[in-house]
Amino acid sequence: MSRTTVPVTITVDGTRYTDEVEPRTLLVHYLREQVGKVGTVVGCDTSNCGACTVHLDGRSVKSCNVLAVQADGSEITTVEGLEKDGVLHPVQQAFHDCHGLQCGYCTPGMIMQSIDLLNENPDPSEEEIRSGLEGNLCRCTGYHNIVKAVQQAAGGAR
Ligand code: FES
Ligand code: FES
Repeated sequence: MSRTTVPVTITVDGTRYTDEVEPRTLLVHYLREQVGKVGTVVGCDTSNCGACTVHLDGRSVKSCNVLAVQADGSEITTVEGLEKDGVLHPVQQAFHDCHGLQCGYCTPGMIMQSIDLLNENPDPSEEEIRSGLEGNLCRCTGYHNIVKAVQQAAGGAR
């Protein structure tokens, strides 16, 4: 009989999980359905919107574009792993302060991508912020307050 699942061990937001997954299971579905990290959302399933963005070993990835088996042995950080001891991550705080969201659907992915952008470039220009967030779509805000939030977070890091 052929085997239909394979074991994976993945650390998610600091906790190590060992689970059986189907080889075709997408990382985003593993995170939401098996680990319960429903803060990571699915906006398109076709790598367009960026709503599913998480960090895989410290770099942002669209988790609908990665198989769970490809993340075996990795560390994943989701938006739910950013808050520490009740204190929001500076980028979360900046989105809150600058009203960088309306419906909030894009926000988990925007925040994860913004953190990656600031890790790479701690002092980005407005143009660099807009181009760094190009893969993340927002249907509500017109991006203006999202850019302001990233600028505020960058200012705080200076
Ligand atoms: S759900 Fe992954 S890019 Fe849209
Ligand atoms: S706040 Fe609604 S999609 Fe961005």
